[in-house]
Amino acid sequence: TNGRPQISASFRDVAIDGKASGDGPPEQGGATVSITVVGASGDLAKKKIFPALFALFYEDCLPEHFTVFGYARSKMSDEELRNMISLTLTCRIDQRENCSDKMEKFLKRCFYHSGQYNSEEGFSELDRKLKEKESGKVPNRLFYLSIPPNLFVDVVRSASRTASSQDGWTRFIVEKPFGRDSESSGELTRSLKKYLAEEQIFRIDHYLGKELVENLSVLRFSNLVFEPLWSRNYIRNVQLIFSEDFGTEGRGGYFDNYGIIRDIMQNHLLQILALFAMETPVSLDAEDIRNEKVKVLRSMRKLRLEDVVVGQYKGHAKGGKTYPAYVDDPTVPAGSLTPTFAAAALFIDNARWDGVPFLMKAGKALHTRRAEIRVQFRRVPGNLYRRRSSGTELDKAANELVLRVQPDEAIYLKINNKVPGLGMRLDSSELNLLYSERYRGEIPDAYERLLLDAIEGERRLFIRSDELDAAWAIFTPVLRELEGRRVAPELYPYGSRGPVGAHYLAANYNVRWG
Ligand code: NDP
Ligand code: BG6
Repeated sequence: TNGRPQISASFRDVAIDGKASGDGPPEQGGATVSITVVGASGDLAKKKIFPALFALFYEDCLPEHFTVFGYARSKMSDEELRNMISLTLTCRIDQRENCSDKMEKFLKRCFYHSGQYNSEEGFSELDRKLKEKESGKVPNRLFYLSIPPNLFVDVVRSASRTASSQDGWTRFIVEKPFGRDSESSGELTRSLKKYLAEEQIFRIDHYLGKELVENLSVLRFSNLVFEPLWSRNYIRNVQLIFSEDFGTEGRGGYFDNYGIIRDIMQNHLLQILALFAMETPVSLDAEDIRNEKVKVLRSMRKLRLEDVVVGQYKGHAKGGKTYPAYVDDPTVPAGSLTPTFAAAALFIDNARWDGVPFLMKAGKALHTRRAEIRVQFRRVPGNLYRRRSSGTELDKAANELVLRVQPDEAIYLKINNKVPGLGMRLDSSELNLLYSERYRGEIPDAYERLLLDAIEGERRLFIRSDELDAAWAIFTPVLRELEGRRVAPELYPYGSRGPVGAHYLAANYNVRWG
């Protein structure tokens, strides 16, 4: 067994049902999977996709018959592609058994084809090469679009016309950004759907592939103690926090066109929010889960300008080192107002969450790197331990549940506890599940899980087009206002905790950031 949960068997059953929508037979003995990484010469392909494919191969998770193709404009031989890939391949756990042997075997299955992105000729030559490798087996084909978004439609048009599988399935993994507002996202969806059925489109949000995010539903729905508390009756606020301790280094050109709200909030944090807040799905099937996520997103209020704070990092000198401002990046236009930090208060207008602020905070070049979900509970009503006769507060704090997505994956619950001894002193303590202590073995990278799901036809962790529409509807009006009014971001020093405005925003809702 490859260690995949039992559950995936039922996912596979779902995945193989509709041939008309681009699905085909399962990978039995007579089938093969060809994975084409379009944009193979690029950053994401090198950093994430090829290493994830190798990790899957190493763990024996890939089908027996598979081939990997790189496709890009750069001229490269198969051997040059292999050299390029080998520079970033690592065995997830240092010095694993047979690692170099496995690497060699993996690289032998990797090939390259150079072509233009809008060229049917290029993809039909690829098709010919793929057929050679597929050698008469039922061909299943997965294309990973690891290219700038303005090329998505060109590639889908050319590849779907000339390099689709005739007898098996053909799927396309599409990377973000999916447009920059409701309009452009809708336009992208319509263009993709000219050539593909929705079932063939796998819109990736790699945060959904992270271990702790996958665990969110398990925590809620398979433990009696959490779900009954999961509502406005017991939860005061929920915080979704993303911070990085580095700037846009090298990606300023892309980033300036998007900003942190589109880069992190509208997708990664909102997806977590939807999973966190959805009602119990009918089953674990992809469509049942995605139906519930859409309902939450459609119940959300459009974000208002007064509920947003934006910031941008400025240069800073510390300990003899100088850190650049965002606008020092040569690929960023002078005077750019693009936010590298944002905080926002969002609301879900349904019976479960009415009035509960969902606070998001996302920023680059902050003092630390972390991603967390923090759930702050209400205070205990009539708490016996609230006061001593002298009037000193005894209960230190309300309970807080923290899911640390990264780094050092953990789930901990802050509780009030008696400090041992003859007196009566309370202490805020933690019930702590630290993954590195509880579980052996390394946690797979999000891209590994998502690539495997796409190969298996499991769509649960990919974004459906109606989810995407609902997500953009929440953020588009405020983005338009911020940009239309040229709202100046509050500057914060590189490596700091971000603009003070974020604290005022939280204070408006009687909340303190965790
Ligand atoms: P790159 O900028 O590295 O582009 C990938 C490849 O596309 C390049 O190697 C180049 O290949 C080709 N390319 C780049 N610019 C152009 C252009 N203007 N015209 C034609 N071809 C071009 O992108 P990334 O690898 O960083 O990202 C790929 C996708 O993944 C993007 O959609 C990005 O938003 C998304 N993404 C990236 C992340 C990252 O960490 N890098 C993180 C999350 C999402 P060649 O010249 O050989 O054809
Ligand atoms: C990407 C963003 O989607 O996620 C980047 O475009 C960001 O700006 C990255 O750095 C963070 O991902 P991770 O997995 O490193 O937290």
